[in-house]
Amino acid sequence: MNMERRHIVFLTGAGISVESGLTTFRGKDGLWNNKSWRFLASTEGYYKYPQDFLDFYNWRRKKLAEAEPNRAHRLIAELEREYQVTVITQNVDNLHERAGSTNVIHVHGNLTKVCSTKSPHDPRFVEDYPLTEPIRLGDKAGDESQLRPYTVLFGERALRMEEAQEAALHADVFVVVGTSLAVMPAADLVRYVYKEVPKFVIDPKEVMACEAMGFEAIRATAGEGMAYLVERIKSGAIGIKACN
Ligand code: OAD
Repeated sequence: MNMERRHIVFLTGAGISVESGLTTFRGKDGLWNNKSWRFLASTEGYYKYPQDFLDFYNWRRKKLAEAEPNRAHRLIAELEREYQVTVITQNVDNLHERAGSTNVIHVHGNLTKVCSTKSPHDPRFVEDYPLTEPIRLGDKAGDESQLRPYTVLFGERALRMEEAQEAALHADVFVVVGTSLAVMPAADLVRYVYKEVPKFVIDPKEVMACEAMGFEAIRATAGEGMAYLVERIKSGAIGIKACN
């Protein structure tokens, strides 16, 4: 742990974007209650039903274009004025960046980019693509294979995990916001945090994996929970120092 305690690391999931109008995956109204969508978000789903796969992702891309960052995204971004902040997110939205966060590690990719179907996460073929522009069958990536969204499908490896693990290892405060921690390997990141580091979990529901590991539970929505946490940080109660 750093002697100058100033590095706050967030691990976020779908719950942080609920107040922006986006949907979670599990639980009531979760996207994965629709079994066909859950299937489409897999490599097998893509190869068997490419048009349905693209329709599903184009719909999510359009919804994201209409969404705005919420209070929780903004409060995390504002912390950068005084602290070193790393955001590890499982979300494929760009709401952290649009709120102003500059150090965001997307472990499940990003809907604002596209990549090649043949070599999905090869950086040579990853490019920005407007959210409002649907990806069509026949659109080609740089290697001439079909273009697809730059997201991690079931059956594929998570991205940038080494950077995420490194950030968790060097956290002076670690905060989980809006994730059920149901999906590996992202869920395992909580194990990289040193025992003595203050740890919080902001979620209206119990997140077993955290509470069993000594996280302080803030049972609230992301916006309310972040406002409460920022107040605690600024009051000095958590013992983290501002950088300036
Ligand atoms: P989940 O749907 O599994 O979990 C969402 C969490 O957000 C739950 O713990 C909810 O209680 C919580 N929640 C709901 N409303 C909230 C609010 N207003 N404020 C704060 N929390 C709220 O979503 P993730 O954990 O993000 O992967 O799912 C992880 C991965 O599973 C996703 O990235 C996706 C999915 O399969 C892939 O597609 C590869």
